[in-house]
Amino acid sequence: MRLLIMGTPGAGKGTQAALVAARFGTPHISTGEMLRDAIRNGSRLGREAERYMAQGLLVPDEVVIGIVEEQLSGQDPARGFLLDGFPRTLAQARALDAMLARRGEPLCGVLLISVPRDEAIRRLAGRRVCEACGTMFHVDFEPPSRPGHCDRCGGPLVQRVDDQEETIAHRFEVYTRETAPVLAHYQGAGLLREIDGTGSREDVFRRVAASLP
Ligand code: AP5
Repeated sequence: MRLLIMGTPGAGKGTQAALVAARFGTPHISTGEMLRDAIRNGSRLGREAERYMAQGLLVPDEVVIGIVEEQLSGQDPARGFLLDGFPRTLAQARALDAMLARRGEPLCGVLLISVPRDEAIRRLAGRRVCEACGTMFHVDFEPPSRPGHCDRCGGPLVQRVDDQEETIAHRFEVYTRETAPVLAHYQGAGLLREIDGTGSREDVFRRVAASLP
């Protein structure tokens, strides 16, 4: 299975990609997570990415295309992949098309998770992430058993820097301007499948699983 998972900030891409990966064993490749790992490690890539991410801006295409290409080249083609958060611009989509054509591995589909904007904002504003292990919670929808502490490792739960109100608004603007045109690209290729992303994680996952190729 070679899939893309798309949607606005807070649509639930990461949540659903993790569920698909757990159920089907498909490697989950999240550019957002790779960049946040780079920031945590204090690498040069992380220092560069942080300047953009903290403001809700996209990291430059050449940087992100490079890390995706490197990641895909290390993957076992037989296992496929589930790309979450990439491509986000037409230039990235065209670079991915070329990469996959060289590898002889065409996409099987592009899932678009659709959620009304006010719901997506509610999800982002309440999201908390474990600083130690990265496990995700939500203060209302998926609260930890001990407030402020991770159920998995006990680490502290923090808010992502880009989940502040003003930065969230900026991320939506960037999505409309840069990423919405990518949907038309895949619609034209007959690959796009829209999935209702409202309801519980499990409701959405049932729809996602039913739409997989
Ligand atoms: P990235 O990490 O990809 O952020 P995003 O696309 O804005 O998406 P989010 O992670 O915020 O939301 P999501 O849709 O994954 O929702 P989630 O499942 O977490 O990118 C961050 C930044 O990195 C970008 O702004 C950019 O700077 C940079 N970047 C990344 N990729 C790039 C690229 N290709 N090019 C350039 N720059 C790039 O869910 C959100 C919350 O809702 C959670 O708390 C969750 O528990 C909860 N939730 C999920 N589903 C449900 C449900 N059904 N019901 C109730 N709550 C739910």
